[in-house]
Amino acid sequence: MKDKKRYLITAALPYANGGIHLGHLAGAYLPADIYARFLRLQDKEVLFVCGSDEHGVPITLGARKEHISPKQFVDKYHLLMKQSFERFGISFDIYSRTSNEIHHQTAQEFFLKLYNHHVFTEEVSKQYYDEKEAIFLADRYITGTCPNCNFEKAYGDQCEKCGTSLNPLDLKHPISVISGQTPILKETKHWYLPLHLFEEWLKEWILQEHKNDWKPNVIGQCKSWLDNGLQARAMTRDLDWGVKVPLPDSEGKVLYVWFDAPIGYISATKEYFQANPDKGNWESYWKDNDTALIQFIGKDNIVFHCIIFPTLLKAHGDYILPENVPANEFLNLEGDKLSTSRGWAVWLHEYLDDMPDRQDVLRYVLTSTAPESKDNDFTWKDFQARNNNELASILGNLVNRAFVLTHKYFQGSVPPCNQDKLTEAEQELIQHTLAIKKSIEDSMARFRIRESLNEAMTLVRLGNKYLTDTEPWKKMNTDPETTGHILNFTLQLIANSSILLEPFLPDTSARIQKMLNLPDSFRWSDVGNYNLIKQGQQINQPEILFTKIEDDEIQKQLDKLHQRKQQMTPETSSTEKPDKAAINYEDFVKLDLRTGTIETAVKVKNADKLLQLQVNMGNESRTIVSGIATYYAPEQIIGQQVCVVCNLAPRKIKGIESKGMILMAEDSNGTLRFIQPSETVSNGSVVS
Ligand code: MF3
Ligand code: ZN
Repeated sequence: MKDKKRYLITAALPYANGGIHLGHLAGAYLPADIYARFLRLQDKEVLFVCGSDEHGVPITLGARKEHISPKQFVDKYHLLMKQSFERFGISFDIYSRTSNEIHHQTAQEFFLKLYNHHVFTEEVSKQYYDEKEAIFLADRYITGTCPNCNFEKAYGDQCEKCGTSLNPLDLKHPISVISGQTPILKETKHWYLPLHLFEEWLKEWILQEHKNDWKPNVIGQCKSWLDNGLQARAMTRDLDWGVKVPLPDSEGKVLYVWFDAPIGYISATKEYFQANPDKGNWESYWKDNDTALIQFIGKDNIVFHCIIFPTLLKAHGDYILPENVPANEFLNLEGDKLSTSRGWAVWLHEYLDDMPDRQDVLRYVLTSTAPESKDNDFTWKDFQARNNNELASILGNLVNRAFVLTHKYFQGSVPPCNQDKLTEAEQELIQHTLAIKKSIEDSMARFRIRESLNEAMTLVRLGNKYLTDTEPWKKMNTDPETTGHILNFTLQLIANSSILLEPFLPDTSARIQKMLNLPDSFRWSDVGNYNLIKQGQQINQPEILFTKIEDDEIQKQLDKLHQRKQQMTPETSSTEKPDKAAINYEDFVKLDLRTGTIETAVKVKNADKLLQLQVNMGNESRTIVSGIATYYAPEQIIGQQVCVVCNLAPRKIKGIESKGMILMAEDSNGTLRFIQPSETVSNGSVVS
């Protein structure tokens, strides 16, 4: 990315229908926060905006369930989310909400401009209507059988089982969520965004211009949407909760939530500058080409942020387009998909209640296991291990040793360091520090945040090694001068590490700098300077940065998780499969199993269950027809690594020659999932 004058960082506006869980944090909020802090540390002009998404069916249905009004409902969850973010230390410049007046105005103006420029097409069509409740049934107000996979509880906008995006009219046996009755069809008028007219432009903008700087998972999903062809999408709904359609004769109609919510980024920016007029103006952040708009989201939001919102911005004409949309994949929990309805989630507000001083531990763990290029797993055991074996034993230990020794031998007064007599190892460490700085800059520019944190920790590891190799505790009696020199150098290394770690572990970094008793806070450009702390400077007593986490604390979290799951899952009967007869090893090794990466996926015509895949096997690309359309939408699986049975005799399926079979696991509900290596391996690796 070219250097820009200013940066507008956004993180997806979460629905105000629950709390924030670890999946949300790892997907968007934490990487966005780290990125924003990283830019601020370099003295860049940055604005980091977010807010609650308070419209749409998730809100109205949620309110119904809790027997309160939508307004009471969003007030409750907006506050919960806002406070969780604050307590956790996400450094938004503003956390706004889409029920604000300024947002309604901004979204309406936006809509009117497009309307006046004849961007929309107006269409009268038949839609499902609940006669008993007298409302139209859009999106999640309606369920029915998925035409793709026959799942009986598919929503009007999407089947959660196979991921296909749907229209209520696609559903078989539609049922109103509110009354449980079968709806009738009734005519209604809506305004549509003709996405197909923007297809060529989108292809050029995404697949050409951004093919090298957007993440492969993002490009892959966009390509799949674009290859499958775009269709006009209604930008309005028949609902009474939302931003009113600003046209005459549109009583009872509101803007589609995916129209209004992204405009929330603009309204939040306006609101910020209304409150802080001395800081500049909102237009410079949205209308100046010298601003880089960077939008952090989870992968389920890719189509909205990469295709629909940019199309709206382009059609409007006054606004800049996103420079990058770094979407993360999903975070799983203890080996299972996160699910709020099944009670399988760790809530941020509960985490903060249980571990009020462990913000940085969670930041560290979620960043170290960030689902940047594929889904990843959070486990409490790993959380404990990373705290105890990395944060406490590596970072905490280095700081503690250096401070304790400086107090013991020099009463906390920083001893002199002979800059002219640096050893080779010390000179190398300084060079290493500069190299790490550069490599973090490169990784961050590519949104490889996990790698960046690892780089920063490398310096800490090298610091520990330096201290262990030089053994200052053995030298004090005979050579106090060298002892002092080593401790000075170690403290300088710690100061450097505290700058490198600041975006990732802001609280720890501030504590270290406070312990070093430094007047001014450091900047990124200070990294590499090994004279940051002056000789004779009095440092404070060391605090323990990370206390060990015991097994019982982890067990409590696991128990809580399993209890909640049990409370929320109705009895299920498992369909156990009988064991198969034993085979000998010679039979097993006849299988040629290898890994490959799915490069393209398209539906097979006239076959609901089949996808045609192109799988990169390292030395060749194979066509494989697989019966997984019921479980995965094509755009979901691009870039995923899978295991392939390579020596299965080729066979023709629906006229297509299929060479091989993808290995799947089937759970007790009959859902199929890919078998994948736990870390990406090279394509063509042998599975045995
Ligand atoms: N509320 C949506 C979600 O939680 C995200 C909205 S992002 C915005 O998936 F761009 F629309 F604001
Ligand atoms: Zn389905």
